[in-house]
Amino acid sequence: MKNFIYHNPTELIFGKGQIARLSTLIPADKRIMITFGGGSVKRNGVYDQVVAALAGRDFVEFWGIEPNPSVETLRKAIALGKERKVDFLLAVGGGSVIDGTKLIAAGLLYDGDAWDIVLKGKAEHTVPMATVLTMSATGSEMNSGAVISRYETKEKFAFYGNYPVFSILDPETLFSLPTRQIACGLSDTFVHVLEQYMTTPGQSRLMDRWAEGILHTIVEIAPRALAEPRDYDVMSEYMLGATLGLNDMIAMGVTQDWATHMIGHELTALHGLTHGATLAIVINGTLRTLREQKHGKLLQYGERIWGITEGSEEERIEQTLARTEAFFRSLGLSTHLSEEGIGEETIAEIERRFNAQGVHYGEAGNVDGAMARRILEACR
Ligand code: NZQ
Ligand code: ZN
Repeated sequence: MKNFIYHNPTELIFGKGQIARLSTLIPADKRIMITFGGGSVKRNGVYDQVVAALAGRDFVEFWGIEPNPSVETLRKAIALGKERKVDFLLAVGGGSVIDGTKLIAAGLLYDGDAWDIVLKGKAEHTVPMATVLTMSATGSEMNSGAVISRYETKEKFAFYGNYPVFSILDPETLFSLPTRQIACGLSDTFVHVLEQYMTTPGQSRLMDRWAEGILHTIVEIAPRALAEPRDYDVMSEYMLGATLGLNDMIAMGVTQDWATHMIGHELTALHGLTHGATLAIVINGTLRTLREQKHGKLLQYGERIWGITEGSEEERIEQTLARTEAFFRSLGLSTHLSEEGIGEETIAEIERRFNAQGVHYGEAGNVDGAMARRILEACR
């Protein structure tokens, strides 16, 4: 195992009816800004629960953080927050609202343009923030990452901000999710685990088995979450599974990949394709292209997750790749770029961007522009 420091300060508050605790969780003297997306919370009753819990408190609302939050919108929130001297942020929504709020938290204490913070990759000072989660996928409710888009230039980059002070996870908030959002959330969770697991074997039995536990659970609950999104127990497992998939817990002391995500972000930036949908395509290209490098782990994953034990090693890996792709298809997601009308022009642009940035992603640092092209060609 590699050396590591683990410190996740987010308090997790899980279960039905927990939104009512908001008033006691946020200190009484705080000037609060509550941030929202496009209005789903007004239709499913979450907004009413939040304002009821905070009745009589000093808060201002900011609406309109879009899926794949843009710096253009977030600059407006930062200006409003500065004007009102906001010193506590409450994000009510999915990963986009939470990520956007992480940039607001940093922007409130920064004099320059918020995009500088994204480009620096790390926020220096932040105002405390908390979340009421309504869409499970990103783990943003219990990690410090945030991914921000700049629509003007069709760019999308990640930076590290603050961990939420607390996050309220009430599985009933997920009951109103459209099937496609659930599919994308399951895909995102599955790939988060693979990014931290599908590297080289023998680094940590503990991390491997925690990761495999989440993968198993997602495979098991996926058909039920899609068919019965109002089943409290199923949605509870989905919600907690997504949080545990990206809250630093399964990454202790092991190498990580993340190349699939970095390529996926480019597909979203260039085509607006939903995050989880980009991953359902790219992961197949990554696993095929890097099958030699990931050989040992692919065999372990094939056996432990999909029960594949028959045939030569190459045959087992072939079956494992097929089962993985079939899983994403079972969610109703595309697994080839062509199904989304994406072709050579985009592949060339991603290759160009990676070369221009001089990036080397992946656990072996070998995913550069040329490798990104090979990966994308393998899932064309
Ligand atoms: O905007 P509203 O009206 O609220 O609608 C949202 C949005 O249209 C809707 N929605 C959310 N909760 C709902 C609901 N609809 C009905 N009922 C509910 N309970 O769902 C749509 C998508 O929401 P969004 O927040 O965009 O989804 P998600 O949570 O998947 O977040 C995606 C963003 O997070 C980033 C992605 O790149 C993308 O920008 N990620 C953040 C990460 C992190 N911070 O650690 C890691 C991830 O890998 C990911 O990159
Ligand atoms: Zn993701």
